[in-house]
Amino acid sequence: MAGSRVIGSELIEDTRQRGRLVFEVLPGDIVTALAREAAARIGIKLLDGPLETPAPVRSDGATSMRRALYRRSAKWVAPGKRTSLNARRFSKIALVGAGGVGSNIAHLAANADMADEIALIDIAPGVAEATALDLNHASGITRTRARVSGSTSLNMVSGAEVIVVTAGRARSPGMTRADLIETNKRVIHSTAEAIKSQAPGAIVIVVTNPLDEMTVEMLRATGFPRERVLGMAGTLDSSRFRNALAQAAGVDPGDVTAFTLGSHGDEMAPIPSHARIKGRPLDVFLTQAQIEACVRDAITGGGQVVALRKTGSATIAPAHSTVELLDHIRGARTGPVPVSVMLEGEFGVNGVVLGVPAHLGQSGLVKVEQLSLADTEHAALHAAADAIRIRVGLK
Ligand code: LAC
Repeated sequence: MAGSRVIGSELIEDTRQRGRLVFEVLPGDIVTALAREAAARIGIKLLDGPLETPAPVRSDGATSMRRALYRRSAKWVAPGKRTSLNARRFSKIALVGAGGVGSNIAHLAANADMADEIALIDIAPGVAEATALDLNHASGITRTRARVSGSTSLNMVSGAEVIVVTAGRARSPGMTRADLIETNKRVIHSTAEAIKSQAPGAIVIVVTNPLDEMTVEMLRATGFPRERVLGMAGTLDSSRFRNALAQAAGVDPGDVTAFTLGSHGDEMAPIPSHARIKGRPLDVFLTQAQIEACVRDAITGGGQVVALRKTGSATIAPAHSTVELLDHIRGARTGPVPVSVMLEGEFGVNGVVLGVPAHLGQSGLVKVEQLSLADTEHAALHAAADAIRIRVGLK
């Protein structure tokens, strides 16, 4: 068959990484079983082509010239939000922990109408139930179709596609995230037992601190593959880094692209080499001292909130940062996003959970994006991996 193509799984994964959600199969193409499996796993629709293409836009010379000049205009336009109209709705998400972070996630998720059912679970009687009722009461105004339920029973995770775990003790002033290890390990283990028996196919997003260590515990306790146990920290730390850079440069946060990797602790690794303000490198706008201050601000951001609040830690930014991961999983956002995952040789690191840029899809981790980093950034990533190894007893 002249001109026929063999469509393998790499082509499907490549399509997803380019932010597409459909793949056009032309007459004569051979689609391998692995490619079909990959398409189902990462949510790519295989459509029989040739697909109808929009009619070419005809235009006169003057209009074409105006358009070309407009495109060349030096005026910066912030990139729009990367949201897709092809986002899926979850049938059910479960939130274990209905404290400040859990209830804010429930609020944002209900408002975004991203699930048919949102189950809130909290050990303190009445807390999850009250928040659920409160959110349902708002639906007469928000018109969200998401139904929220609350309970003290971990069995409520049953049938959830994604389970977000925020339960555990939060820091008090003067405590490091690592001070919480022993207490929160127990919470992770009891939650993992319920997840294993009630929702064995779920994706788990760990938010409980210390984040990297608790993600390792969740992996150990559930025995789930690394694709389905993700830690939320990088989206939060990146948002704090972008906020610091925007304030220092006097621009809108939307004008800044930047991310942080590594651990969610003192060994956090903000990545200035890939950061951009209005599409340009940081040193166009900021001095080295200012950039370093922004890096410090990102690293200490969580602690700054704890010091002010005195009891408990940040709630709103962590909730938005968790919803960012949910949006990547359901296809509302595409492209790489910083997330803590078990590394298998990526960035030269093996056997430890670390924040790295990765592509997510409906079955969780699709692929870690291997970026080139500056030498100091690469060293910071390895220092973070070593520190986590020590804390989880691997060294
Ligand atoms: C923070 C906590 C949630 O960084 O770790 O705010």
